Amino acid sequence: MLDDVTKRFPGQTRPAVGGLTMEIPRGSIVMLVGPSGCGKTTTLKMINRLIEPTSGRIILDGDDVTGIDGDQLRRGIGYVIQAGGLFPHMTVAANIAVVPKMLNWDKARIQARVDELLELVSLNPALYRDRYPKELSGGQQQRVGVARALAADPPVLLMDEPFGAVDPITRQRLQDELLHIQSELHKTIVCVTHDFDEAVKLGDWIAIFDEGAQLVQYDSPERILANPANEFVENFIGSGAGLKQLTLTRVNEVDLVMPVTANAGDLASDTLSRLQGEGGQNAVVLDERGRPIQWLSRRQLARLDRHTDAVDPKLPVIGNQATLNDALDTMLVSSTGAALVTGPRDRFLGMVTVQTVMEAITAANDAAQQGSSSAPVGINSGVIERSDGASAPVEGDAAPAGQGTR
Ligand SMILES: Nc1ncnc2c1ncn2[C@@H]1O[C@H](COP(=O)(O)OP(=O)(O)OP(=O)(O)O)[C@@H](O)[C@H]1O
Ligand SMILES: [Mg+2]
Repeated sequence: MLDDVTKRFPGQTRPAVGGLTMEIPRGSIVMLVGPSGCGKTTTLKMINRLIEPTSGRIILDGDDVTGIDGDQLRRGIGYVIQAGGLFPHMTVAANIAVVPKMLNWDKARIQARVDELLELVSLNPALYRDRYPKELSGGQQQRVGVARALAADPPVLLMDEPFGAVDPITRQRLQDELLHIQSELHKTIVCVTHDFDEAVKLGDWIAIFDEGAQLVQYDSPERILANPANEFVENFIGSGAGLKQLTLTRVNEVDLVMPVTANAGDLASDTLSRLQGEGGQNAVVLDERGRPIQWLSRRQLARLDRHTDAVDPKLPVIGNQATLNDALDTMLVSSTGAALVTGPRDRFLGMVTVQTVMEAITAANDAAQQGSSSAPVGINSGVIERSDGASAPVEGDAAPAGQGTR
């Protein structure tokens, strides 16, 4: 919890963070978003006191930590630095082991922990443990950054644009990994991002800041999308709020459609007649382990004798942890109108269709109207001067929002 925290850098007329009070619910992911320079990193660094607040208090689990030794505090808080920030002269293993070493863990325990964490972020320990950061891709470096932050199993994790420098597909995978990790570990995570879609996907709560870390809205992704507090938030959300709600629904939460399936070796004419019987357009061919390998139209089936075990590399496949937004992307890229969904060990579970997606948008809108738990407390004290000379609003529509508004 931040309690009326202000940071004024030397020589600044306006504070970088002005009178911010913000409750961070335990075990949840809070996403901080806002324009560049609005004070996100400063806010984050005040939580572990890498930056000392000018005034106000930081309260962690009921304890006022504003006065305690900063180094000691930081050992209990994992921190993922903007743009990776690994030590270049240290191996992956040594990077991850930094905090456990400071805590005087014995060698065997550190080694075991390093391997466990590398597995957790999907890097094979045998391959990656002894490499140097420059021998890794950007996405891999960011994963090591996440592993390092988790090393001593801190209850609190601060992440500053942890997936900033990677391509959209790797980013999607890293996001899914973080959600997977969180579903097991239940950390309290505060994460900065520039990407509103990422905030919607990862956040239990989203804090939208304007200059000087003025909280414009602090609420659940559902309610922010359904009821943006003002024009600033609307602009931030960008167009297509309806589509963004798709990032709130995971494929494993919707009813899948089961198409006609066949196995490698089966007669294609049998498949075709079953397809015609059911009025379907495409059939899915599975390998001996139940994994989808081909997706054939009636035309393709008519030209075929028996199904082969060739794997179509362009198959529109997604995992069941993916969001409906990911599913829609996959459909659009392959222009197929459906995505094939796989579960554990890549087994075929069914399809998501455009119809499924449409129904989910309607359901999400209904759910947002009803609303559930109330938002955490978030407010700024006083009025601060903005650089354009206007004062930041503290009442009315642009209320110091989040105060359990709905
Ligand atoms: N050490 C410092 N000394 C002086 N001013 C600083 C210092 N660090 C940050 N600032 C200023 O404080 C404001 C907030 O910076 P901060 O790094 O928190 O922004 P941010 O929201 O994280 O931006 P970005 O999205 O670009 O990372 C900016 O105006 C910045 O110039
Ligand atoms: Mg920053």
